Amino acid sequence: MKCVKKIVGKRENEDIIAYNVVFDNGFEVEILNLGGIITKIIVPDKDNKFENVVVGYKNIESYITNPSYFGAIIGRTAGRICDARIIIDDKSYNLSKNYDTNQGHGGYVGFDKKIWNVEVLEEVNNITLKMETKSLDGEENYPGNLDVIVSYKIYNDYKIEILYEAISDKNTLINMTNHSYFNLSGNLKSPITQQYMKLDSEYMLEIDESCVPTGNKINVKNTPFDFTSIRCIGDSIDSDNYQINIGKGYNHPFLLNGDKNIYLEDRSSKRAMKISTNQKSVVVYSMNFTDDEVLYNGKINQRRYGICFETQSPPIGKDMCFIDDSFVRKNEKYIQKTTYEFFVNRI
Ligand code: BGC
Repeated sequence: MKCVKKIVGKRENEDIIAYNVVFDNGFEVEILNLGGIITKIIVPDKDNKFENVVVGYKNIESYITNPSYFGAIIGRTAGRICDARIIIDDKSYNLSKNYDTNQGHGGYVGFDKKIWNVEVLEEVNNITLKMETKSLDGEENYPGNLDVIVSYKIYNDYKIEILYEAISDKNTLINMTNHSYFNLSGNLKSPITQQYMKLDSEYMLEIDESCVPTGNKINVKNTPFDFTSIRCIGDSIDSDNYQINIGKGYNHPFLLNGDKNIYLEDRSSKRAMKISTNQKSVVVYSMNFTDDEVLYNGKINQRRYGICFETQSPPIGKDMCFIDDSFVRKNEKYIQKTTYEFFVNRI
């Protein structure tokens, strides 16, 4: 087991460093100090063939702009904030409108754009990349100086635990996630519409035309959003349903219940993954839009080549619904955990 550090590029005067964690069994994970971006998760298939199960770019320059937020840490707040307006302690804050009329993924310079300080910690069967950054009072117009730590604890048995910790000196909002696009076919061989998914979720949140929650919950039963039993993602991704039409596929918050697990499987390679979390919801985004960047397979990015499971608090929608779920008091620690486990399902 080892962690190899390599300078892979520059953004202005700062080095972009890749941390490549490799285990003796072939499991490999690569993460950048830029945005804490996961560029590689290399796991075996049924024939012990090791391939990358996240979508990534070919060139480091593409990660500097990262228009689709590949693999990045998202903060201060993941997802959209309706009309980019929040009220905290009776004070109104106008945030930047980087998603049309709304704010998205923390604004123009979110945590995905930061160069993080990284410390490498080794234990018997795991390596942790402890990433630290600060977000100053007033940054992107949010209140409070915020100290943030995101720890990627990578275990030799194909497991990644992500621990999000933050503390602010003023009451503020925090809602962090990771924006990895998974594709278990390996090296982007086939679209995610051929993969199978199960979600511990009986209710999803209705979104409006601008993709923010309206405040209504929808029971998933008999809708294209019912993944309470394992089902092929492509089955109803293009069905004529008003919510699917608005999102151009899946781009919706699902409220998690029960064990709060998320399960993804590719039946041809037999790769599978389980996501467990203590977060309240997951935004499932089926890569309904694309960008023009070149992926590591040499092809231009395409729709449906990955699926994001953004475990987070519900995004802040109409009339500031769900704002309480992102509210963090002065000096109170924000702490959330999400774990990705990869395995081969031979059944
Ligand atoms: C959002 C999408 C957006 C994508 C890339 C997702 O988390 O829900 O609407 O297009 O990120 O920005």
